[in-house]
Amino acid sequence: MNTSAFSSRIPGYLDLFEQQLTERLVANPGTDTRLKEAMHYSVFNGGKRLRPLLVFASAEALGLEPTRLHAPACAVELIHCYSLVHDDLPAMDDDDLRRGRPTTHLAYDEATAILVGDALQALAYQLLAEDPLGQAHPAAVLEMLLEMADACGADGMAGGQAWDLQLEHQTPNQETLERMFSLKTGALIRASVMMPTSLVEHMSAETKAHLRQFGEHLGLAFQIRDDLLDVEGDAEVIGKPVGSDEENAKATWPGLFGIEEAKTRICELHDQAMDALASVQKEVSGDCDGLIWLADQLTQRNH
Ligand code: IPE
Ligand code: IPE
Ligand code: MG
Ligand code: MG
Ligand code: MG
Repeated sequence: MNTSAFSSRIPGYLDLFEQQLTERLVANPGTDTRLKEAMHYSVFNGGKRLRPLLVFASAEALGLEPTRLHAPACAVELIHCYSLVHDDLPAMDDDDLRRGRPTTHLAYDEATAILVGDALQALAYQLLAEDPLGQAHPAAVLEMLLEMADACGADGMAGGQAWDLQLEHQTPNQETLERMFSLKTGALIRASVMMPTSLVEHMSAETKAHLRQFGEHLGLAFQIRDDLLDVEGDAEVIGKPVGSDEENAKATWPGLFGIEEAKTRICELHDQAMDALASVQKEVSGDCDGLIWLADQLTQRNH
């Protein structure tokens, strides 16, 4: 199967995406403040933009025009950037490098970094709620807002982050560790894949469930790969410190169950994601090649 067509469309998708995000972040230049400068620093810093790409690839799979999905794509990236700024804080992972640059609390200060997260989160919801898509499809936008809120709150990313901190110095079993990963990292990845479904008029609950499973398997594999990169990666390439998890006595997949076992588990989850997607492919009008390509990238990534 030719899976390179999606990658050739990425520059086009991301150019427009960066342009729209820039417009939103530099709005009201007259009221520019140190906080806005720090927000800009935390968003435009070489992130891979994988979650927006998942939104666009999912739109392609569902037969939707991806450019209609710019607001949810921007919103999920803003939530992700906020989660990284807070994740690096001294009270959490206490890291000094993010996307190859000093973390926000070091480039600015701790209070500013906390407020950057708060403000990016608010902006994410505002941007999605005021998008013109909502005038034509109010119910769909409301559903996307709820999907995102669910994925980033106490039963999603924030809850997973709290659990991650509780599990420091602990030896949870595989099921517990993976449930924590599914919350802290999987939830936003799953939401990225699911948000476009709100614009599809006739989609069976079964097909939606298969797409959700695809997102869940992929999100879990993504965090295991992230844990491996913290052990085997190159700080210059990943743009964040290596060995941070060990220093913080984090419960990680390779740390608890072995490096080779972690690689095997990623392959297993990738296969399960592909099986779930095969069931989606039979029922949708679009092309799943982008999702297939991204699943390979996310599970094999070196940064
Ligand atoms: C890193 O995510 C944090 C995790 C959820 C594991 P990414 O690897 O997508 O980070 P950026 O956005 O490219 O910096
Ligand atoms: C954090 O996981 C996931 C988030 C919700 C931000 P990590 O703490 O492993 O992410 P990195 O390695 O710092 O990017
Ligand atoms: Mg962390
Ligand atoms: Mg971290
Ligand atoms: Mg990590």
